Amino acid sequence: MGNLEKDRIIIQKAKASDSFAISKILSANTLDGNTNDYSITQRQVWLKYTSVEKIRERILSRPTFCAFGMGQILGTIAIEKNEIVGLYVDPFFHKKGIGSQLLLFIEKFAKSLGLETVSLTATPNSESFYVKKGYQKVGMENIIVDKVIFPEMRMIKML
Ligand SMILES: CC(C)(COP(=O)(O)OP(=O)(O)OC[C@H]1O[C@@H](n2cnc3c(N)ncnc32)[C@H](O)[C@@H]1OP(=O)(O)O)[C@@H](O)C(=O)NCCC(=O)NCCS
Repeated sequence: MGNLEKDRIIIQKAKASDSFAISKILSANTLDGNTNDYSITQRQVWLKYTSVEKIRERILSRPTFCAFGMGQILGTIAIEKNEIVGLYVDPFFHKKGIGSQLLLFIEKFAKSLGLETVSLTATPNSESFYVKKGYQKVGMENIIVDKVIFPEMRMIKML
């Protein structure tokens, strides 16, 4: 299957009731593409971060959006100030254009807030995706969650 057409996907603000579906997408990604990049300790910390309760808290605290299609949530993205966070697509629907649509949506949203640049930290697995989308590498940064270090690449884009 190629890219999903734009009109088959709707991007809407996430509701607290979407937490369960978002949690499933985040934990499916933990067990999928990123697995080889992380240690067991890193994965354990990450799985805590993907709990339904933690996701509900984050939906309520920052603008979070979901891509809906075929009667389900296909992916999600959020923003905190000028930092893009939490871009995840259901592994079954990777490489069908959903991540690109979510990223474009949040960039337009950021622009509508008056922002001129956006920033993010990319996992090793997603760095090339963001390069394709026009992001520039700034340098490595250690993201610390529960005292566990996740080395990621800081990337920025002028809007
Ligand atoms: C990274 C991710 C969001 C990309 O979403 P997606 O819907 O699969 O991406 P798209 O289909 O829009 O891909 C757009 C382009 O990037 C490429 N691409 C997608 N994922 C890629 C990856 N991990 N590495 C390199 N290129 C990638 C696609 O092949 C496509 O290339 P093309 O335009 O030349 O055809 C998705 O793979 C994902 O959820 N990964 C796991 C979680 C993650 O790493 N999130 C980022 C946290 S910072």
